Amino acid sequence: MKSWLNKGLILLIVLSLIPISVEALESPISSAGERDGGIGNSTNYLDAAPNISVDSKVNQILYPLFATPAIKKKGETLTLKIDTQGKTAGEWNVKLKQTNHSSLTSEYELPVQSVKEGQSHWKDSSSIKDVTVQIPEGTPEKLYDLEVTYTGNGQRITDKQPHSVKVVDGYKKDFTFLHLTDTHIGSPRNLGDPEDPTSTDPDLAREAGMWNPDPEKRWLYLQKAIKEVNLKNPDFVVVTGDLMYGQMNPQEYIYEYEETYKMLQKLNVPVYIVPGNHDYYAQDATLADGAKYWEKYFGPQYFSFDYGPYAHFIGYNSFDWHKYDRSGHGTVSVPTWGGQIREEQLNWVKQDLQKNAETAQKGQIRGLFSHHNPLWRDREIWPQDDPEVQKYWKQYDEKNNPQSLDTLLLGEKLGIKYDQQWHGENAQELIDVMKNNHVNVSLHGHTHIDNVTKQDGILYTTTTAIELTGKPWVGFRNFTVNDGQISSYHYDESGHSIPVYENGDTKGGVMSYEADYKYANDGSASSQEATVTNRLDKPLTVTVPIYMKEGKYKASNGTIKQNYPSDGKQYLEIEVTVPANSAETITINQ
Ligand SMILES: [Fe+2]
Repeated sequence: MKSWLNKGLILLIVLSLIPISVEALESPISSAGERDGGIGNSTNYLDAAPNISVDSKVNQILYPLFATPAIKKKGETLTLKIDTQGKTAGEWNVKLKQTNHSSLTSEYELPVQSVKEGQSHWKDSSSIKDVTVQIPEGTPEKLYDLEVTYTGNGQRITDKQPHSVKVVDGYKKDFTFLHLTDTHIGSPRNLGDPEDPTSTDPDLAREAGMWNPDPEKRWLYLQKAIKEVNLKNPDFVVVTGDLMYGQMNPQEYIYEYEETYKMLQKLNVPVYIVPGNHDYYAQDATLADGAKYWEKYFGPQYFSFDYGPYAHFIGYNSFDWHKYDRSGHGTVSVPTWGGQIREEQLNWVKQDLQKNAETAQKGQIRGLFSHHNPLWRDREIWPQDDPEVQKYWKQYDEKNNPQSLDTLLLGEKLGIKYDQQWHGENAQELIDVMKNNHVNVSLHGHTHIDNVTKQDGILYTTTTAIELTGKPWVGFRNFTVNDGQISSYHYDESGHSIPVYENGDTKGGVMSYEADYKYANDGSASSQEATVTNRLDKPLTVTVPIYMKEGKYKASNGTIKQNYPSDGKQYLEIEVTVPANSAETITINQ
């Protein structure tokens, strides 16, 4: 979604701060083709940029990652992909460790069964090893960090990926997943009223907490959404991009990527993440390319995953443009923010679906998720009787990939007038691939509104933003699968998402549901009371995690889902259903 912020003002501020070469503005296209690394390997995009220093989060471990975790049943094997970066490797040691959410310290050693030469679909390297490990039967159901240590050319090397393995007791035939989108960390839009771009609303500013020195008070709308997601405890979560803003100044990815990465680790569930346009801009004033940041923080821009035999999902990058088309031309202004998928990625999606069909069981849910919805094409939506629109598509057809500067600037002008949704190539081709491969559901963001459209047997859902501009409210979507069918995907009859705030009212600041503990929930107490308040107009089922002193406990309310001792503590998970607009207290006693 395009900023409605006063672009002129921002432009002036940025132009006054950043020296921009006149040559860069006048003839930026000359080497664009050589700089475009193509799909699946964005490392070539920016190797010439000297001024970007990022502490890379993706190093030797290429799979599983924070943004592409593995969900595995205890007793099963898991094949890791490790890039030894040219070193001869041996003496492998693989562990699951407790995450930042856990009060426990137990680790679980995963015996290595085999090490083979491997490949990655997104990283060019000739030293990738497929390391197959087993999840021991005794591993409790939980989300874990992965730690891999090996000897490479005589040195012990360790790499970690937080939240990258979820161990389950079993896959559930009836399961739930949530969809969050457009979290926009760093967005100045959070401070004002969308109807009045000149205003700064103190109530909204409080919820945005924009760069508040106290990290607990920043991006409250996101922190509140995350607390609600954790309580819902879905089997997994998908996030469809626009994680940050990327349009304030050309260096902002340096801090926005870091902040986003930290903030999303407040999620205590496996989360699958693809980029949106705001994560993927390239600012030519500094050569800061969002595609390169993405690879260093989150890894691949497209991938697939399985939830046991019951679901197969593909996440893809719908902002799949040549770097030149993604560039701000010397300013924070960006001329392209609509969707596109190019041949290489489209072919990968098709092959992945065909491969999945060879082993798919009947009743498997097949889903695709991306930032832009391929149903909404600018070619069809932009008014065809506008002479500038006619001129634009003529120019575009004469030269695209990359476009000419003239075309880009006209596209930006028309985009501000009509917005940009699926702007470029291969929307119909992608839809045909989905139809031919019996895809059930297609999940998207970008427009910051809720919408549900059923077409050719595919459920297309667009979900509002976890940003204060979201309409009808800040929310996320809950999908429930029963008997191989998506049985629920909306909060109300209009197809809306679940509001994060009570009655969808952001300014009130009150969460639509939450849990409060009477005593510290860190394993020090021998009795506990947790009260779940549900301010929604629907009943709500949540899972409350409870850490007690080691012992035998009973719960006054709800169903005990987990109950095991570990390093002197007792871990319990209580599932409880709370009727609409009411509260339930769970008392835990010996
Ligand atoms: Fe957005």
